[in-house]
Amino acid sequence: MECHRKWSCLSSAWLLFLGVFVFRQTWAVHHSHIGQFTAVGTAHSLLELSAINFLNDIEVGSYNKAHKQIIVKIPWISKALGVNNIIKKINLLVEHEQHFRWTIQFLSRNDTNHNRNHTAQLLAECEIDNNITVKSHIYLIWDGVEYFRIDEEVGHWENINPEFKEYQHILESPFWTTLRKRYMKLYCVDLMRKIVGYSSIRDNVVPEVAVSQHVSPEGSIILSCIASGFYPRSILMSWEKYGKLGIWGNESSSGTLPNMDSTFYLKVTLELPPEDSGAGYTCVVEHSELKSPAIYSVPGKSTVEKSWVLELGIVLAIILLLSCAGAIIIWKKRKTGSTGQLERAFPSTPPAPSSLP
Ligand SMILES: *[C@@H]1O[C@H](CO)[C@@H](O)[C@H](O)[C@H]1NC(C)=O
Ligand SMILES: *[C@@H]1O[C@H](CO)[C@@H](O)[C@H](O)[C@H]1NC(C)=O
Ligand SMILES: *[C@@H]1O[C@H](CO)[C@@H](O)[C@H](O)[C@H]1NC(C)=O
Ligand SMILES: *[C@@H]1O[C@H](CO)[C@@H](O)[C@H](O)[C@H]1NC(C)=O
Repeated sequence: MECHRKWSCLSSAWLLFLGVFVFRQTWAVHHSHIGQFTAVGTAHSLLELSAINFLNDIEVGSYNKAHKQIIVKIPWISKALGVNNIIKKINLLVEHEQHFRWTIQFLSRNDTNHNRNHTAQLLAECEIDNNITVKSHIYLIWDGVEYFRIDEEVGHWENINPEFKEYQHILESPFWTTLRKRYMKLYCVDLMRKIVGYSSIRDNVVPEVAVSQHVSPEGSIILSCIASGFYPRSILMSWEKYGKLGIWGNESSSGTLPNMDSTFYLKVTLELPPEDSGAGYTCVVEHSELKSPAIYSVPGKSTVEKSWVLELGIVLAIILLLSCAGAIIIWKKRKTGSTGQLERAFPSTPPAPSSLP
């Protein structure tokens, strides 16, 4: 940056700073919060209730009925929320026990075996982008099967399992509607705003990428691309052949998996058809911490062959050089009939073969 006058220099430095700041912000404005409640009980008692919260795909807190306390995984979050808020949340969860007890008793009231266990689950999911709510969903699950869901933007419950259709009016009653709207705002959206407004959950980390290939027992070439240690979770990995995107073989994925340090891991593989030699493939990785898609080429067999040829060439050259030197020594020995003149036999530039007699 060339600055002729002090003011123009300052303002361009300011613009540069602003540019970097805005760029970093655009990736940090999207946040998600998931609350997962699981209750186990029978027609006459609630045996278990647990709740787990995930913020930007990282577990931040949990609760269970047995201990009646919230365990905050990231210490500063307690500070961000304040003690009063946490006590309020515990009281609320104790209150939720009644709701789950009631739900399980109601749905299992016709059970012939009253000791049969049932599982009732509620998944609440919300997202903000630039501080605006862009998603607010609830899913209801009974014995592992989803039966209702709601998108707050649509505003009414969608029946997934027809066996439960008759309960729609209960979910849409003023009591549950008011409760649902209040809780989603207070405990899904506002709670998330409070936490992300205080600090970022963790530093963003660029993915480390490794690409490799091997041959399967059946003889086909399998390409692997591993991205590890990245944050946030969102990542796109694809295979290109000579720069073109396409389905080049059987693709599989490990799914994005969490690491202990709240970063993520993803492995994608591509099994090529037998006629494909595996040449020209690249793994393309897109992640918010990479300024543009990063391209990693597959360390091909061809490069292995090339280096082999190169090594062989060097070995041959050395053998040739040594045999030339040997020939000179023998020639010199014969000529002078003396020993101990090895230094002269190795001149700094080896003699061309034509200089031999
Ligand atoms: C329980 O039985 C009542 C009638 O006695 C019926 O209306 C209701 O659908 C049944 N509930 C379930 C969950 O099967
Ligand atoms: C019901 O669930 C409780 C708590 O998870 C468990 O201890 C109990 O063995 C279960 N009972 C049956 C009949 O599966
Ligand atoms: C985000 O939105 C909420 C509610 O609309 C508002 O109270 C809050 O001040 C906003 N925060 C920022 C940083 O704009
Ligand atoms: C892909 O998988 C299918 C079924 O597993 C198999 O029949 C097919 O041969 C595979 N194709 C390649 C290119 O490996």
